[in-house]
Order: sequence, then C-alpha cells, then structure tokens
Amino acid sequence: MIVIGQMTFAYYIIRLYGSSVLQGNLEGWNAMTSHGYVPSDLMGNIVFGAHIFFAAVITIGGPIQLLPQIRARIPRFHRINGRLYIGSAFLISLAGLYLAWIRGAAGGLTGSIFITINALIILTCAYFAIRYAIQRNLEIHRQWAIRLFLAMSGVWFFRVFLMLWLVIHQAPVGFDPETFQGPFLNALSMFVYILPQVFAQIYFRAKATLSTKFKIVASVGLISLTLGIIVGVFGATMGLWLPVL
Ligand code: HEM
Repeated sequence: MIVIGQMTFAYYIIRLYGSSVLQGNLEGWNAMTSHGYVPSDLMGNIVFGAHIFFAAVITIGGPIQLLPQIRARIPRFHRINGRLYIGSAFLISLAGLYLAWIRGAAGGLTGSIFITINALIILTCAYFAIRYAIQRNLEIHRQWAIRLFLAMSGVWFFRVFLMLWLVIHQAPVGFDPETFQGPFLNALSMFVYILPQVFAQIYFRAKATLSTKFKIVASVGLISLTLGIIVGVFGATMGLWLPVL
C-alpha cells in the first residue's frame, strides 16, 4: 500500500514541479504552497528546487530499496540506490531546514520545530544505516534502514493521515486551515514524525519474540494503521495530488 501511495506522490511531484520547469512556468510551483517560487529570492528558489528534486528521488527510491526481491536478485542496484537514497536523505533535510528556518513555511514556529525534529531523526538514522552497512553488520543495518525509511516517509504520512482525518470529519477539525496551526496538527506531527520510531521498535520486538500474544497485538496494530493508510492515500490522491495536475 505504501509503495502504491508513494509512487502516486512521486507522480504528483514530477508532474507538478517537473512540468512547470520544462514549460518555463516556475509560478506553477506555487500551486500547493505560497513559498515555492518567489521572484526576488534566487537562493530560496534553488534550495526549493533541490528539495523537490530529492523528494522525487527518495519517494521513488525508498520503497524499491525495501523490496526483498530486488535485494536478492540485483544486490548491485541495492548498493547504488542505497547510496543515492542516503545521500539524498542528508541533502533533502538540509534543504528542508533552510526552507523552514530561513525562508519560512506554512505551519509557523510549531510546524518548523516538528519538521526539524523529523530532519534530526532522518540524519541520525541515515548515519547509523551507513555505519552498520560499512561494518557489514547487516541485521542492525536493516533495522536502521527501516527506521530511516519511516522517518523519510514522515511528510508523506503527514499528508496521508491529514487526509484520513478530513475524510472522517469532512471539515478541518482541530486546526485553522488559514494558518495551518492547531492542536490536531501538533498531535499529527508527533504521530507521523516521532511515533513511527516507536512502532518500528515494537515491530522488531514482535518479530524476535516467542510470545504469540505480542505478535497478534502488533499485527492488529499494523493492520489498523494499514487500513487508515488505504483510506488516507485515497483521500490524498483525490483531494491533494490529482486536483492540481
Ligand atoms: C524526507 C522526505 C521529504 C519529502 C518527500 C518532502 C517533500 C516536499 C514537497 C513535495 C514539498 C512541496 C509542497 C507540496 O507540494 O506538498 C515540500 C516542501 C517543504 N518541505 Fe519537504 N520533504 C521532505 C522532508 C522535509 C524535511 C526533513 C524538512 C525540514 C527540515 C522539509 C521542509 C519543507 C518545507 C519548509 C517546505 C515548504 C513548505 C511551505 O512552503 O510551506 N521537508 N517538501
């Protein structure tokens, strides 16, 4: 489900931002944010363009990296794509920090603090994923790679669970759609940027444990999240991504 949903997000990124560049219409970058293309801010536009470029690279590269068939059949691809993915993780986070703190973004100070926590988690997971790959400690490398993938998917989870919330309530409940701030968005940020790291820990433990009860509880949790993701991906595709293409 995540592979399908992230490929849809990648399609949106390439179609919206890539086509605007090819058509020489950079104003098209402002379809989803007022901070995309700002005529007087060359540096900011370059950083935003780079951020979007790496967003496309990682949104396509990430899910492919986790497919066991690719790892087993074309390990060389896994190594090249892995280097690209981790390099992009560093660059997208640094570009994102510039956008959040120097250029200014929707969501105000609280939004910037949460996305910064996301960037720090990404940088930490990327560091350990490389470290254990170099040490050839593949089991621990795999765990850090999964944590990294979840952290890198944070902004995607944000959009998916926001749309799930809107599908359920049919109205912006718990936040102000003008300022893009409010208690619901703070709770959502914690849920999508921080809690996936806890879920990953539960998942690793559930795989290792002999307790059937623990495995069942973890599986029910994972299935519930997946059901939420299915509805959220549908909501994000129909409500966020397709309408601007
Ligand atoms: C790692 C995966 C990430 C992806 C795939 C991603 C993707 C995107 C996309 C597609 C946009 C354009 C808005 C839209 O079309 O929805 C965007 C904007 C932005 N991103 Fe990221 N991003 C990621 C990580 C980050 C991180 C870690 C930060 C901060 C440290 C960040 C900060 C921003 C900011 C500030 C904007 C501008 C939003 C605005 O103008 O209000 N992003 N990102």
